[in-house]
Amino acid sequence: MSTHICECEAKAKAAQEEEARLYKELDKIIAKHKEVKGPLIQTLHAAQELFGWLPEQAQARIAKGLDVPLSEVHGVLSFYSFFTTVPRGKHTIRVCLGTACYVRGGKQVLEKFEHELGISVNNTTEDRQFSLEVNRCVGACGLAPVVTVGADIYRRVKVDKIPEIIKKYKGS
Ligand code: FES
Repeated sequence: MSTHICECEAKAKAAQEEEARLYKELDKIIAKHKEVKGPLIQTLHAAQELFGWLPEQAQARIAKGLDVPLSEVHGVLSFYSFFTTVPRGKHTIRVCLGTACYVRGGKQVLEKFEHELGISVNNTTEDRQFSLEVNRCVGACGLAPVVTVGADIYRRVKVDKIPEIIKKYKGS
């Protein structure tokens, strides 16, 4: 009998092990934050750092671990926009659609990113490399349209330069 394990089985096993490791870490975070007052937001922050987002399973584990209703967790998550309950890509691309950027072609820039990445706004590429979001003015209106990729800022972005911008981050 062959003992050969196909690549996808090995990958699935590695993913399972990684998940188990993350949840073990999460338990430590919960235990640590349990001791402090008003621990929910800090715990959610730490959990988001760990996973990159907040899966439903992690939300339930936090609620149970901190002894707060799951509805309270959901309330906090929907109130603060920096929490995300969908997987984020390694790089978050944000296209500004504030007034100045919008009138100077922000919408076309966004459409080109959607086309090049093959996703619509507020989604993440399958390979988890990129998430695409919209910003409302980043204070650089004179240099519109503006795009940010993580901490990098791109000003006066031209549609034909977008593949080049994406290429810079691909695989990094
Ligand atoms: S509107 Fe885009 S930077 Fe101000």
